[in-house]
Amino acid sequence: MDAIAQFKENQKKLWSTFAPTEVFTCQPAARLAVFAQIKSGQRVLDIGCGTGVVALAAARMGARVSGLDLTPELIVRARENASIAGVEIDWHEGDAEALPFSDGEFDVVVSQFGHMFAPRPEVATREMLRVLKPGGTVAFTTWPPELFTGRMFALVGRYLPPPPGVSPPPQWGMPDTVRERLGSAVSDLVFDRGTLRAPYLSVQHVRVFMEQNVGPVMKLVQTLEPAKLADFRRDYDAMASQYFEPTENVLRQDYLLTRATKI
Ligand SMILES: C[S@@+](CC[C@H](N)C(=O)[O-])C[C@H]1O[C@@H](n2cnc3c(N)ncnc32)[C@H](O)[C@@H]1O
Repeated sequence: MDAIAQFKENQKKLWSTFAPTEVFTCQPAARLAVFAQIKSGQRVLDIGCGTGVVALAAARMGARVSGLDLTPELIVRARENASIAGVEIDWHEGDAEALPFSDGEFDVVVSQFGHMFAPRPEVATREMLRVLKPGGTVAFTTWPPELFTGRMFALVGRYLPPPPGVSPPPQWGMPDTVRERLGSAVSDLVFDRGTLRAPYLSVQHVRVFMEQNVGPVMKLVQTLEPAKLADFRRDYDAMASQYFEPTENVLRQDYLLTRATKI
């Protein structure tokens, strides 16, 4: 198995415990579905769908939706969520870098904090645009590197560097980089900002939730020796305290929204 294939196998394990975070990611999911201007009857693909938070919002708007994710445990939960909501969604276990769909199948391709974790942006971008119809909409939500979640992934990367050939996910949160990656394949490129306001009891409560549910942070906690782990926790709490609003018990996680039309 080559290094990229091995990385994806590891990612599958890392994201397998992510389901409890759907209580936070469901809110920006509804925002992305609206921002993508999804219309009833359209064919929509949600890449890196996780437990289906964006896919369900799109289905509620009357779209015919497919959801794809690398991690089988999350697809199980996505099926349950669709069944609870009483909507039909076509779920796929698969890779953003090798989409199992024909050219031009979809009117809209969306991804919330999903395709940004594919290791090779140029491959993921090519695939997203390939399965989109000419004139179709691509829209996604990503974490900027200078804000809480982007800084969290950078901090994790400092203690546990990714293998060579894996692009840092928060680069997808930089408008200039997004513009360059989508290039001349799109027109009408639009950016917006949103804020996820997640309730927590304390800065330490934020960290423990991430350590218990968000794979890349969990892995680091399992791997670091005690002195390094103490350093990581100190750095994490100092960084998170800049985004925690104690008068509301809320962690502020700002994100970037991107929308464009395929030429
Ligand atoms: C931060 S979670 C976001 C999940 C969901 N979209 C949400 O907003 O709750 C990242 C997701 O990307 C998926 N993922 C990571 N690499 C992927 C890849 N190469 N192809 C497809 N999905 C991938 C993970 O399995 C995980 O579900």
